[in-house]
Amino acid sequence: MDAGCILMNLIMYSLKDKVIIVTGGSGLLGNAFIKQIVSENGIAINADINLPTDIAQGNIECDITNQNSLNNMLNIVLDKYGKIDGLVNNAYPRTGDWGLDFEEIPIDSWRENLDMQLNSCFSLCQKTLRIMKDQKFGSIVNIASIYGVVGPDFSVYDGTEMTMPAAYSAIKGAQINFTRYIASYYGKYNININCVSPGGIFNEQNPTFVENYNKKVPMRRMGTPEDISPTVAFLLSDNAKYITGQNVIIDGGWTAI
Ligand SMILES: NC(=O)c1ccc[n+]([C@@H]2O[C@H](COP(=O)([O-])OP(=O)(O)OC[C@H]3O[C@@H](n4cnc5c(N)ncnc54)[C@H](O)[C@@H]3O)[C@@H](O)[C@H]2O)c1
Repeated sequence: MDAGCILMNLIMYSLKDKVIIVTGGSGLLGNAFIKQIVSENGIAINADINLPTDIAQGNIECDITNQNSLNNMLNIVLDKYGKIDGLVNNAYPRTGDWGLDFEEIPIDSWRENLDMQLNSCFSLCQKTLRIMKDQKFGSIVNIASIYGVVGPDFSVYDGTEMTMPAAYSAIKGAQINFTRYIASYYGKYNININCVSPGGIFNEQNPTFVENYNKKVPMRRMGTPEDISPTVAFLLSDNAKYITGQNVIIDGGWTAI
């Protein structure tokens, strides 16, 4: 086999028969993660809130903010496959008032968003890691953000009603360091855990915002889901087995300047 064929096989089969749960797999990024996993011959399970359970299709209705729902989802996967190779914490629950200006945010809204996004991530990691520890293998990728690493440049919202929610910085920054904690705790059990931090993903946002964003980012464009998904798949593969506790930033250079 020539080098090109070997490389092709490495890419196409790197997730072969791996059972990987993606929370929020119906969303913008989650959908691309599911497609990437399937394209690499993995078994993708979409755990999303508004999704009728059909395990044959890889769909499980799951509310990540609800303990019973998380337990039920994990049990369905274990009953069907007897193992969990990977988990992508990607779901993005948020309150109806998400996106308020900093000075207007009620404390209850802040609390609720931390609970829905950060505490749910903790809970699903804890439950999944118990299973992975018994198996003695597994990989987790937590989807964080550049805004867990740097503060927002508010000038990109000039001329729009948009802003960057304050809780996001606390949630994503916490996810990144929590990932280091669990990577350290579970390394000896042959489990690797990393973050992927995307920059802004194009999704038909206000054109003024897109123009402002594109001017600032070195690569002069917003990201696409397909810019992010191959790295997530790589971190779930055996090729990344010795990478743990890291935060891989994919942002067209936003955080490089
Ligand atoms: N879109 C971006 O520009 C961007 C940039 C950086 C990081 N991220 C991160 O990527 C992740 C995905 O973002 P997205 O833009 O694809 O979001 P999205 O809103 O398109 O999708 C989120 C998905 O989560 C699901 N969901 C919501 N509440 C849920 C719950 N309680 N339980 C289970 N599923 C639930 C939704 O149904 C949806 O399918 C998030 O963690 C987000 O912070 C996004």
